[in-house]
Amino acid sequence: MLALVRSIPDSYAQALAAVPADPPIDVEDARAQHAAYVAALAGLGIEVITLDADEAHPDCVFVEDTAVVAGDVAVITRPGAPSRQGEVAAVAAALAGRLELHRMPAPATLDGGDCLRLGTTIYVGRSARTNDLGVSFLRQMLSGHGITVVSVPLPPEVLHLKCVCARLDDDRVLVAEGALPEDTFGETALVRIPADEAYAANVLAVGGAVLCADGFPRTQETLESAGFRTIPLLTTEARKADGALTCMSILL
Ligand code: GLY
Repeated sequence: MLALVRSIPDSYAQALAAVPADPPIDVEDARAQHAAYVAALAGLGIEVITLDADEAHPDCVFVEDTAVVAGDVAVITRPGAPSRQGEVAAVAAALAGRLELHRMPAPATLDGGDCLRLGTTIYVGRSARTNDLGVSFLRQMLSGHGITVVSVPLPPEVLHLKCVCARLDDDRVLVAEGALPEDTFGETALVRIPADEAYAANVLAVGGAVLCADGFPRTQETLESAGFRTIPLLTTEARKADGALTCMSILL
């Protein structure tokens, strides 16, 4: 398995955030936390490819939003935040030799943080960042590759679908209590965590291991009870920019 990640620019202190960070983002702490994340991926046997930071794009570390990978195909997205649309070029260039690429045209928008894959189904949050044309384009590009795309309505306060849930394996989704209708993922089993730990619903599961946000004891206990080996990581500086663990990599 490969993971594409991207270094943190000095401009990260100006990354998008629904609420201004208080205390402000500490870029050096962010880099240290990112380095620990990369080390955790490498420790799971994943080969990590690191793209250079881009000072013109403060949010560029959140690579997940720029591409949706399914097997040997990648849809290069058109992120919903205009300030982020220029992030895709470097990611597309890095994926070009490895995968068949399809570039999303305007006015479609879609953020990869809205996409949760379970087996051959990708659930796509219909957020303020992802529009119906984005969902349709993804469906059109992936249907010939055996992928079904299901649109999931989201309340306006949820930035991305994976802000409130994450894949544990093809049969289980970790979800913050009360965040989504019970039947959002059909018959898939839901592993619930308390609403007051909702931030920790964004985990990165790789086989039997789960990268999870440090400081959320009930979520960690729930994951361990579900049979996972947890790897808690500091995410304070990602969180200040509305980012979390899945946001910082593209797995292929
Ligand atoms: N700061 C991540 C985002 O808002 O897209």
